[in-house]
Amino acid sequence: MNLSLVLKDKTDISHQQLEKLLVGKLKSIAVEADYIEILKKFYGYIKPLEERISKNLDINKVPDYPERRKSDALELDLQYFNTTSDVSLCDDLPVVTNTYEAIGALYVLEGSTLGGTIISKMVSAKLGLSASEGLSFFYSYGSETMKMWEQFKIALNTRVAEEDWNMVIIGADETFIKFRNWLE
Ligand code: HEM
Repeated sequence: MNLSLVLKDKTDISHQQLEKLLVGKLKSIAVEADYIEILKKFYGYIKPLEERISKNLDINKVPDYPERRKSDALELDLQYFNTTSDVSLCDDLPVVTNTYEAIGALYVLEGSTLGGTIISKMVSAKLGLSASEGLSFFYSYGSETMKMWEQFKIALNTRVAEEDWNMVIIGADETFIKFRNWLE
């Protein structure tokens, strides 16, 4: 057994619940303004969460963290739609006070690149936008997405001792649950 498999298993239900809520929202996108509302929600959660992750993550555990996707991409997308003011930030975030909880939260954000590929296709088809037209966050790492994911899983499986797994799992599950609460 390795940590990436345990994480997938233990957070499966929370992922499904978040995915279900989000798919409903994505299906009801009719105009750009509907998509902008979703972008604002993502930014409102991910921006402050990333600050907590950056403050607590031991960079040796995820060595390529600086190259990983940041809320900068969401900012870019919001700028594309001229929507930079009037974005509220979530104040009920998961607890991230050590590197293991930070890794758990990061697992959720990194994994969202996998769903992101599907989301960017859905939105692109609905609104006729290309990746550079307000879709950069969901476009994730483009053709590198699977490679980045595999590398992240290698870090999970080789750099976290089994006695610390539980903190990662709790951090990840809380990150899914609080995100769903925020989106509701
Ligand atoms: C429309 C919404 C979504 C869809 C359709 C979706 C779909 C998927 C799919 C198909 C996978 C599996 C990919 C594979 O195993 O190759 C996956 C994995 C994952 N997704 Fe989502 N997703 C969605 C939203 C999200 C969001 C919003 C997050 C987090 C904020 C998220 C986090 C994850 C994580 C962490 C994994 C990795 C699971 C593992 O350990 O293998 N997903 N998603």
